[in-house]
Amino acid sequence: MTELNEFELSRRNLLMGTAATLALGSQTLPAEAQGSSAGVNAPAAGAPSIAKVSFSVNGTARDVAVDTRTTLLDALREHLHLTGTKKGCDQGQCGACTVIVDGRRIASCLSLAVMHEGDTITTIEGLGTPDNMHPMQAAFVKHDGYQCGYCTPGQICSAVAMLDEIKAGIPSHVTADLLAAPQLTNAELRERMSGNICRCGAYSNIAEAIAEVARSPA
Ligand code: FES
Ligand code: FES
Repeated sequence: MTELNEFELSRRNLLMGTAATLALGSQTLPAEAQGSSAGVNAPAAGAPSIAKVSFSVNGTARDVAVDTRTTLLDALREHLHLTGTKKGCDQGQCGACTVIVDGRRIASCLSLAVMHEGDTITTIEGLGTPDNMHPMQAAFVKHDGYQCGYCTPGQICSAVAMLDEIKAGIPSHVTADLLAAPQLTNAELRERMSGNICRCGAYSNIAEAIAEVARSPA
C-alpha cells in the first residue's frame, strides 16, 4: 500500500511538472513558433517586391515591372501577352514553355524574369508568322508534326536552337566521339529533343520535320 501511495505521488508530481514546463514554454516561445507548433503556418510578412526588367523580345525592346518571383514564362504570357509560349507542367518537365534566350533554348518556367536583364529573347511569335513562316514552322506544317498543337511552339523553338547547337559542335549525352563534329543521327535527335514531350505522340512526324530542316542548305 505504501508503495502504491509513493507511485501515485510520483506520478502526480510528474504530471504537474510537465504541465508547468509546457506552460512556461508557451510563454517564452516567439509568436511564429507557437503558431507552427500548433500546426498553423504563419503568412509571409511584407508586400511583394516589384522590379523593372528590360530585355529584347522578338526584336522589340520591352520593359516590364514584375514581382521578383515572376517566371520568364509568366512575364511573357501575362505581362507581354505573348501566349504562343505554353505553360504545361510549370516545373521543367515538358518543354512546352521553351523559348530561345541569347541563342540558347531554355525552359522559361524555370527562370525568373528578373534574371534576363538585357537578354535577347525569341518566342514562337518571333520565329515567323503564318504568312512568312520560319523553315521549321513550315516543315512542321508539311509533315503534320502536331495534333492538338499545345507542345508545338516549344517543340519548334527547341528544334531551331537544337540544330544551332549541332552546328556549333556542342556534344550531347549520346555523342560518341567528342572530337568529331556531332551529326543529327536518330539517337542524337531523340536525345536532344527529349526535353520536349508530346502528349499526342506526334514524335515520328516531328522527327521528319526536324530532319528535313537539318538536311536543307542553311
Ligand atoms: Fe516549362 Fe513544362 S511548362 S517545362
Ligand atoms: Fe498535342 Fe504535342 S501535338 S501535345
